[in-house]
Amino acid sequence: MSRQKIAAGNWKMNTTLDEGIELVNNLIAAEKDKSVLTILAVPFTHLVTLDKKIKSKGKLKLAAQNCHHKNSGAFTGEISPSMLAAINIPYVIIGHSERRQFNFEDNQLLKGKVRAALDAGLKVIFCCGEDLEVRKTNKHILHVKIQLEESLFSLDVKEIKNVIIAYEPIWAIGTGETATPAQAQEMHNSIRRMISRQYNKRVGEAINIVYGGSVKASNAKEIFSQPDVDGGLVGGASLDAKEFIEIINSFPPES
Ligand code: 13P
Repeated sequence: MSRQKIAAGNWKMNTTLDEGIELVNNLIAAEKDKSVLTILAVPFTHLVTLDKKIKSKGKLKLAAQNCHHKNSGAFTGEISPSMLAAINIPYVIIGHSERRQFNFEDNQLLKGKVRAALDAGLKVIFCCGEDLEVRKTNKHILHVKIQLEESLFSLDVKEIKNVIIAYEPIWAIGTGETATPAQAQEMHNSIRRMISRQYNKRVGEAINIVYGGSVKASNAKEIFSQPDVDGGLVGGASLDAKEFIEIINSFPPES
């Protein structure tokens, strides 16, 4: 079963709208591997304008970086999944470690967000991953298992198919330190087996699992060549068009 190759850029709280437009113009103009699904998770303020720009540009899609777990109400400053769906944004990131850390989002809350996003018709990029302390005590696989169990495993087979899992070890985010290809492969394979056990083998084989944490043009090839790594969720390096294009073009040729 062949899975989708995915290069997702998470711009986080970076770029003015004009800078975002320039970045997208450069990405549109570039020679890219057409078999790669490229997703740009941009600030909320950029979504409508960039959506107009990339319309009909094939495999270039937009994502929001977060959404609320309710569709409307007295939640000042929040954006709901139905608002995103209404402007045709296909993807939303849920559970990024920065939101877990700085906004105190826990597995239970994230379960609600995943449910609300899928109910609104969005596809979810669900982030999981351990910090350095957990990694040092060799509990990283258990840690991720609990994250998946508590936030995702109440979904049914049909729903889980609309989820991309992003494994992002916190100790590798923005630090320049990358998980080794073997460390990424170990976790991705474990996640795939967890999904197979919870749902069935076919679902486990089909689910897309991307790696995030200091992915760069210089290491993408090696990481993307791991059998259970279906691509990357890229932070800093996605803000540089040339570097990100190189990352998009880093997948092994189809066998
Ligand atoms: P960096 O690529 O900057 O380490 O960020 C990874 C990340 O958090 C993507 O969501």
